[in-house]
Amino acid sequence: MRLLAIETSCDETAAAVLHGPRRVLSSVVSSQVRLHAPYGGVVPEIAARHHLEAIEPVVREALSRAGTTLEQIEGVAVTRGPGLVGCLLVGVAAARALGLVRGLPVVGVNHLAGHVASGWLETPDLPYPALALVVSGGHTAIWRVTAPGSVEQLARTRDDAAGEAFDKVAKMLGLAYPGGPEIDRLAPQGDPHAVAFGEVRTKGSRDFSFSGYKTAVRVHMNATGLPPLARPDEPPSRPLLDLLASFRHAVVRELIRRTRQAIEESRPRALVVAGGVAANALLREEARRLADECGLALSIPPLRYCGDNAAMIGLAGLPALAAGENHLDALDAAAALPLGGAEAQRTTLRHL
Ligand code: KG4
Ligand code: ZN
Repeated sequence: MRLLAIETSCDETAAAVLHGPRRVLSSVVSSQVRLHAPYGGVVPEIAARHHLEAIEPVVREALSRAGTTLEQIEGVAVTRGPGLVGCLLVGVAAARALGLVRGLPVVGVNHLAGHVASGWLETPDLPYPALALVVSGGHTAIWRVTAPGSVEQLARTRDDAAGEAFDKVAKMLGLAYPGGPEIDRLAPQGDPHAVAFGEVRTKGSRDFSFSGYKTAVRVHMNATGLPPLARPDEPPSRPLLDLLASFRHAVVRELIRRTRQAIEESRPRALVVAGGVAANALLREEARRLADECGLALSIPPLRYCGDNAAMIGLAGLPALAAGENHLDALDAAAALPLGGAEAQRTTLRHL
């Protein structure tokens, strides 16, 4: 089956063409990072307006790079949620329009199911059951994946997502937006053990919590009188480099610690690390070490599939399309859309 996938949940307008689960014929991502940089975060209205301008050229580009015409497309998969509702609506409207005009089936996909599925884009034979650590700007969670689309949530963040913590701390330190890649780029120049960040305690639960680290950074800056950068391009001082290296080390240590616990308890055969923060060099290195130690197959998607993209949405939507589902009449955007966990949530996924 040849399908078109569309993703517009946050600040990337993306489209992809897949031929079955094993061939990504094209994956086009138009990033808005530059537009939001002056504000230090994604501005929903600006994002939605840009999606409106970009969606048609991005879809055309995906078809053209795939050497495919619309007539050859047999189905459409689109992100339905979670995300910014004004942004999601642009993708959903485009998918519905294509479905109506071309008489194509359209399925709605959970964005997080997409990030989970990204682990299988380049390694389609990765065995099940797998554990998927999804770390992005909006979400941080661990899922047990027993088959394509069949997931159970084992842990989630109580407060900030890991990427959000990176971005907020970077902002506090006066670094450029988005802060995650900046901290990752500068951290090798600092001492990761210079500033002590304690282990996070979440009272017997397996959940993550990163807001305490944000506070610890602020307390350290106040206590030591360490100033943030006056301008993002100013060379950082040694104490600032030490602080951000220690922060990156602490966040990665926490992600790996919880993942190790989940591996010990649920005995998977493979580990997937996905989402924007999976681009983090230290996390990639530590995940490799963890998978080796535990004897697990490992999939960390290449950078182009770590951040938001439509290829992962296509792969996650494929089983529903292949099963003959069509959500065209009932398809809407859902800002909050849970994935995995309770049986009720598994039902939500099936109804997507
Ligand atoms: O998955 P994604 O593209 O969008 C969401 O769905 O959230 O993730 C974006 C997040 C941002 O918070 C960004 O700072 C973070 O991923 N990020 C990183 C790195 N590259 C991107 N965080 C740490 N280290 C990186 N190298
Ligand atoms: Zn995402």
